[in-house]
Amino acid sequence: MVAAVAGAAGLSVLLAVIGLIVAYTGAYNVAATEEHASFTRWAFDTTFRHSVERRAADLDPPGEITPAMIEAGASSYKSSCQHCHAGPGVERAAWAAGMRPRPPHLAEAAAEWTPQEVFWLAKHGVRMTGMPAFGPTLDDPTLWGIAAFVKELPAMTPQDYAATGDTSGHGDGHAGGQPTP
Ligand code: HEC
Repeated sequence: MVAAVAGAAGLSVLLAVIGLIVAYTGAYNVAATEEHASFTRWAFDTTFRHSVERRAADLDPPGEITPAMIEAGASSYKSSCQHCHAGPGVERAAWAAGMRPRPPHLAEAAAEWTPQEVFWLAKHGVRMTGMPAFGPTLDDPTLWGIAAFVKELPAMTPQDYAATGDTSGHGDGHAGGQPTP
């Protein structure tokens, strides 16, 4: 028993020392030009997915999501999300391809998340990824509209996508600002 406690204490000290060495020597390469090591990627993805699932589970839209909210969501998506996450027939901005983790194409990745989870992700963002929190700048009804629109992306053709929301052509990588309501 005493030996086990001493062993555990020794291990914690060892891990702390390794942590300090990594932090202070510069041994860990933070460059975004390198891919994450598979362990770091696994640890991050697993933590990320479970954290979002747990926090989004009890969220509910404030009422019915109307077609008008989804249409407004489409415009917001094009001005606030498309330059990182692309859209059917539209590539992400060139600079976003240089991010690590690289923001996924939501037309594919959206199928893995519930509308509640997309809402939560857009509202709160994800630390250490570059996924911004939009809660400070977009209100909840707008965020629910974006979430509902994101869930429609996997089934959309490039023509459907081009015809929804703001069709003024701002979806070319501009940060865009707020769409006019
Ligand atoms: C500056 C770039 C950027 C912008 C703008 C951005 N995101 Fe993200 N987003 C990211 C990154 C990076 C991730 C994390 C990817 C990872 O860890 O695999 C992410 C993750 C996500 C995910 C989880 C996808 C997955 O399967 O990993 C969703 C959903 C998402 N963002 C939705 C949005 C929505 C909706 C908007 C607009 C309101 C938005 N994002 C704007 C960069 C961005």
